[in-house]
Amino acid sequence: MSEQTIPDSSAASADSQGSQGSAGKQVARNGATAWKTPLMVGLMFGLVLWSHYVSGVRVFRSESVSEPGWEKFRADYQIDYFGEDGQFVRAVQNGYNLVNYTYKYASRFTRKTAADHVHSCASCHTPEDLAYGFVNSDRMDPKLGRRVSFEDRVRWCYANSMGGFVPTIYDPAIRDIRLLARAVAHNLQLSEGAIRGEE
Ligand code: HEC
Repeated sequence: MSEQTIPDSSAASADSQGSQGSAGKQVARNGATAWKTPLMVGLMFGLVLWSHYVSGVRVFRSESVSEPGWEKFRADYQIDYFGEDGQFVRAVQNGYNLVNYTYKYASRFTRKTAADHVHSCASCHTPEDLAYGFVNSDRMDPKLGRRVSFEDRVRWCYANSMGGFVPTIYDPAIRDIRLLARAVAHNLQLSEGAIRGEE
């Protein structure tokens, strides 16, 4: 029964195409929906303005939030070498936030909260540690018998040291920590495989 209704109705609409009846319907529909376009445009503009100026939601902002200690870190490791602002510097700044305020900036990947004694990468690692880790990464780990990338080490720490979850290697929560480590390694002029105290 229902099989018949569907072909019937589509045949009917195909038949009426181009006829006066359907043209009349078209005009009527336009009249009834004319207000929808300005409403939708208004909603879109409203969303853009709200997200930029009012919401304060972090995902809508391209600049990183300046957390306590960033200016000192920036001066100590001469991050301005890479420019005062720009994608790389912002990524390093996000890396700084991730490492020092992990519970806040990587809350998706850690169960730690501000109330925990150890709640950030910085609880266990200095920026120098990460820089040395960076220049020694992507090489064979004799214990594991395979190559371990910097990203894998960070993922390991998210899972084990932070009691959390494992991000993909492409996640900014990994990538921006890598860029931070790279910037610090550059400042310390570490060569590939440099070992602490052996320069
Ligand atoms: C509770 C302490 C602790 C926390 C918190 C922690 N780590 Fe680690 N991390 C370690 C330990 C211990 C090792 C060394 C493991 C080994 O020797 O195999 C390590 C190793 C690493 C390494 C490999 C290079 C190296 O120094 O051995 C990197 C990179 C790293 N951690 C990054 C991070 C990042 C990024 C975070 C935050 C998301 C973090 N860690 C949080 C304890 C911690």
